[in-house]
Amino acid sequence: MTIQTTYWVIGHIDEQQRERAIQEAAAMLREGKLVAFPTETVYGLGADARRTEAVEGIFAAKGRPSDNPLIVHIADAAQLDELVLPYGDTARRLMARFWPGPLTLVLPARPGAVSPSVTAGLATVAVRMPAHPDAIALIAAAGCPVAAPSANRSGRPSPTLAAHVRADLDGRIDGIVDGGPTGVGVESTVVAVDGERVTVLRPGGVTLAELRSIAADVALDPALAAQASAPAAAAGAVAPANSDFIPRSPGMKYAHYAPRGELQLVCGASAEAVAARIQAAVDDAKRRGLTTGVLTYAEHAARYRADLVVACGSLADLAAAAHELYAALRRFDDADIGFIAAEGCGDEGIGLAVMNRLTKAAAGRVTYV
Ligand code: TXA
Ligand code: MG
Repeated sequence: MTIQTTYWVIGHIDEQQRERAIQEAAAMLREGKLVAFPTETVYGLGADARRTEAVEGIFAAKGRPSDNPLIVHIADAAQLDELVLPYGDTARRLMARFWPGPLTLVLPARPGAVSPSVTAGLATVAVRMPAHPDAIALIAAAGCPVAAPSANRSGRPSPTLAAHVRADLDGRIDGIVDGGPTGVGVESTVVAVDGERVTVLRPGGVTLAELRSIAADVALDPALAAQASAPAAAAGAVAPANSDFIPRSPGMKYAHYAPRGELQLVCGASAEAVAARIQAAVDDAKRRGLTTGVLTYAEHAARYRADLVVACGSLADLAAAAHELYAALRRFDDADIGFIAAEGCGDEGIGLAVMNRLTKAAAGRVTYV
């Protein structure tokens, strides 16, 4: 079924018009409708977290598996106490330092506070306060906790522009607030906090080093170790003892962030060896009759011959790589590329989140040279 999607472009309008647009979008959320909005990480697809029918609409619009719970977004600290049971000092310090900002905390849920569809039946709820004026204004005006996954079709790269949301969800959702490009470019860091221990369930906008500046005991979830390259393992990931363990963050088990073409990730300490392997894979795909692409960084872009070579930020500035990553992945789809070889980057800082997303986009096709 196609529905009429309303657009509000609020980047270049005066304050009064912006206020009117925010109020219209908020009214839709209060009516149980679905509205996409910008955050500092990626665009989110919002619904009133208390209304099961609205939340189920998110899963339907995205084609998202219903066992993958959603993050609840809040505009101020007062909203938090309605959502969660009392929490400890470590969680409090993390919020004080990183909110508003790209950190999601998984906390014990206050029973009945949000629809069970938000938490996928778990006893915990994931909460964050986004650092984006449009998101905060919208959530505050709606006056409800807003459940919002990334506003992409399930499995596709997350949207960092309203145009990406439109490409995936036009006619499937009620509204899109266009606040321009998002900042960080990859999703929030998701952590579970148990007493003193902080477990990273998904690397993101807040880095391990930043978390460690606030909490003494920070570790990567074992499920991340399966995807982590050697430096990440050194940073604290431990390989799971068996392969059929249950990930603590249900989202970790799904293929994600993937362009339509087959993506192969190539990593290694020698940039020359990586480049040689990538070019060989591209040449092989070309012989198989596929259109080819390479995802690399500014420093290495001149090395490759393929139908489309995309420089995704710079190895010297991985924040820029994170900012451009999802738009870069979507460019391969726009050019109808059948095979993509992607170059791994470092795991330091935000690089851990970039590598996590590239590894997921590769869906197991990771080569170390
Ligand atoms: O930056 C972000 O976090 C963006 C923007 C829109 O805020 N949102 C986002 O949501 O990335 P989503 O739904 O694409 O990812 C939510 C992640 C999933 O990996 C999910 O499994 C995990 O958070 N999650 C949600 N609730 C959880 C819970 N109670 N326990 C463990 N993991 C949870
Ligand atoms: Mg997502």
